[in-house]
Amino acid sequence: MTDSAPPAFDFSALVDRRGMASKKWAAAEQADLIPMWVADMDLPAPPAVQAALRTMAEHGMLGYGEVTEDLVLAFLRWCDRHYGWTPERDWLVWIPGVVPGMNVAIEAWLGHHEGLATHTPVYPPICQMGTIRGRPMQWLDTLGEQIDYAGPADTLAQALNPDTRALILCNPQNPTGHVYTREELEAIHQVAAERDLLVISDEIWSDLRLDDQHRHIPYVSLNQDAAQRSVTLLAPSKTFNIAGLCCAVAVIPNPQLRQQFRQQARGLLPDISYAGLIAAQAAWAEGDAWLAALRAHLNRNFDRLEVWLQEFPQLGYQRPQSTFLAWLDMRAWPQAETLAERFATAGVMVSDGAPFAAPGFVRLNLGCPEAQLEQALQRMGTVLEKD
Ligand SMILES: Cc1ncc(COP(=O)(O)O)c(C=O)c1O
Repeated sequence: MTDSAPPAFDFSALVDRRGMASKKWAAAEQADLIPMWVADMDLPAPPAVQAALRTMAEHGMLGYGEVTEDLVLAFLRWCDRHYGWTPERDWLVWIPGVVPGMNVAIEAWLGHHEGLATHTPVYPPICQMGTIRGRPMQWLDTLGEQIDYAGPADTLAQALNPDTRALILCNPQNPTGHVYTREELEAIHQVAAERDLLVISDEIWSDLRLDDQHRHIPYVSLNQDAAQRSVTLLAPSKTFNIAGLCCAVAVIPNPQLRQQFRQQARGLLPDISYAGLIAAQAAWAEGDAWLAALRAHLNRNFDRLEVWLQEFPQLGYQRPQSTFLAWLDMRAWPQAETLAERFATAGVMVSDGAPFAAPGFVRLNLGCPEAQLEQALQRMGTVLEKD
């Protein structure tokens, strides 16, 4: 491609989502707000996905769908190309969402009063999982000095309560963008094996690594024992911006656990939406080049953010290894815990850190055209400059 050739994929257009029943943009229907919060991107899904959905809509038949051989193959080949690992097809249970899969996995493995643990800060539905399921829940706080993502293993083992029977991993991690290394995953597995823990590995962000250094290692691929005591949850939803279509897959090598998972889900989880099946297949089969272009775009947005951050050296920040989320430590700022509110008053909606178990932080969604980011940063800057 010469310099003058148009880019194959254009991530620069500002698409108006108002009037389109978008959760992210609902508040912006009435007010001048730039939504930089919920984790969907203000970027259209890949052309191949749009084309497949257009064909579906023009066909006009929107009944129940089926997981076809083509969809399974597209997923297996995606895993092989992107993670250097291929699951066995018997291990796959197709589900309408990662969070429902997590809830079902807990009930499939845990006895009545047994509890959960997770590293915090973390995605709010994981943080709140103890309350949701009515079970004891431990937050393993990585903000202090005591515990890192993996432990060390003996620290992790000691930190766990005797009634903790499952560890929910979020890898890559939302909100920090941390990609667990093989060593970290092995340390976690060591504790899981010793304590007979189920590891529920939420890998919804698996494809959005921002560099080539941090390869995603599916937990289930670690070794045979890890595979037998785990449920790994994967999805095309974040990668291709199709979260509204509700399609995910649970990888469960342990036949008994898989059977219990199916039993728990029966009658409670709906089938994957027909549109979700169609979109997932097109995305996994034809989405590689689009994803590469998306990564380059996201990196440019992080570059831009980092230039802006130079004006505010008190803010804590590390470029995420994966995701399109910037996690900003505002704790050095006066009244840091009210900053999300004050950004909203200035016209930018960010995610407040408190529901992630990290008051004083904010999360900013960089999955948007550069012009949108620019305007949001300009508005946020006016708030910070006043303090
Ligand atoms: C870590 C994590 N898990 C799960 C989800 C949601 O998954 P689903 O919509 O498939 O339930 C999100 C959405 O942002 C997420 O960040």
